[in-house]
Amino acid sequence: MKKIVIFFFLAVTAHAMEKKSEPIRPLPVNIKDNNPEKTKLGFLLFNEKKLSANNTISCASCHALNAMGVDGLAKSVGIHGAAGAVNAPTVFNSGLNFVQFWNGRAKTLEDQIDGPLQYPKEMGNSWEQAVAKLNQDKRYREAFSSIYSDGITVSNIKNAIAEFERQLQTPNSKFDRYLRGEMVLSELEEGGYRRFKSLGCISCHQGQNIGGNMFQTMGVMGDYFKDRKDMSQTEDDLGRYLVTKRDRDKFVFRVPSLRNVEKTAPYFHDGYAKTLEQAVDIMGRYQLGQKLSRRDINAIVAFLKTLTGETPAVLNRLEK
Ligand code: HEC
Ligand code: HEC
Repeated sequence: MKKIVIFFFLAVTAHAMEKKSEPIRPLPVNIKDNNPEKTKLGFLLFNEKKLSANNTISCASCHALNAMGVDGLAKSVGIHGAAGAVNAPTVFNSGLNFVQFWNGRAKTLEDQIDGPLQYPKEMGNSWEQAVAKLNQDKRYREAFSSIYSDGITVSNIKNAIAEFERQLQTPNSKFDRYLRGEMVLSELEEGGYRRFKSLGCISCHQGQNIGGNMFQTMGVMGDYFKDRKDMSQTEDDLGRYLVTKRDRDKFVFRVPSLRNVEKTAPYFHDGYAKTLEQAVDIMGRYQLGQKLSRRDINAIVAFLKTLTGETPAVLNRLEK
């Protein structure tokens, strides 16, 4: 009887705590898969090395599906061992970002795919070759023609991959469950969230993806690029400027999502920060003009770790 009363009490208080006015929204618990056949084809293509010029690299080579959609490297390694120019962001939840890439040069997941497929340092391929190679494979000919009336085309390849990617959401993080009033955070984690808001991190990292919805300068309060040790400035440090050629877009980047950030080291477009502690310290200095205390950093890192969600359900369905 006592247990039931306590449970009832907890359930009621949890319900009363539903956090509707918070600046971060939880991910949906379930997402609909309107076309499982496309999703499955997209999954095959995402893992398909034939999409690279010499059949050695797939999308998954740099966006490991069993490692939160990243490769764990400061800068990715592409075809013929070519060193990439920037850090590979995760593909998990990337469909929720308002634009794709660090400098936002692609609007949609479909458009994004032109990049890696043709980029000489990633898959180094041409669409003509990619379509021709898939056409030699009976499995693909059948799979495409059962879904698309015009069979294997560039836009159908992009469509299938993007449909698969849109399924890669990571629901039910501890923080999302806290927002829904289903569980409590530890004192340290909750304190970290309060600091995240009161310091102003939330003015840039916010919304459903806790980032991914605006462009901001890296180094609002100081010259991050000059202070960076053992790394000279590169063209890609110019960020959004490369897309718009407007001076005010120099060093401007899409604010990254912080979901699963615990699992996606190293950090920033240049892969410069090796740990979350270092990334938070740098954010304090260069985005807020504050040297954060050890205590604040520890609390914020504890909060950031509550943003780790579940493996996307689509992978459990497809990988068995
Ligand atoms: C050689 C490594 C490599 C390969 C192969 C690769 N990517 Fe990427 N991916 C990257 C890097 C690096 C970036 C960031 C580039 C930038 O922002 O300029 C990126 C960015 C992305 C993004 C944008 C995410 C975001 O939030 O901005 C998506 C989506 C993506 N890749 C999907 C794919 C798909 C689909 C394929 C296969 C067709 C693929 N990638 C192949 C390294 C790779
Ligand atoms: C003025 C906007 C702004 C503010 C304020 C801000 N950030 Fe950021 N944050 C960014 C941008 C832009 C980047 C990407 C910088 C880059 O890659 O060069 C970033 C990157 C990050 C990253 C690395 C994510 C990744 O995947 O590489 C973390 C972690 C982070 N911020 C945490 C914080 C924390 C914690 C605070 C508060 C102490 C904060 N940010 C305040 C804009 C901001």
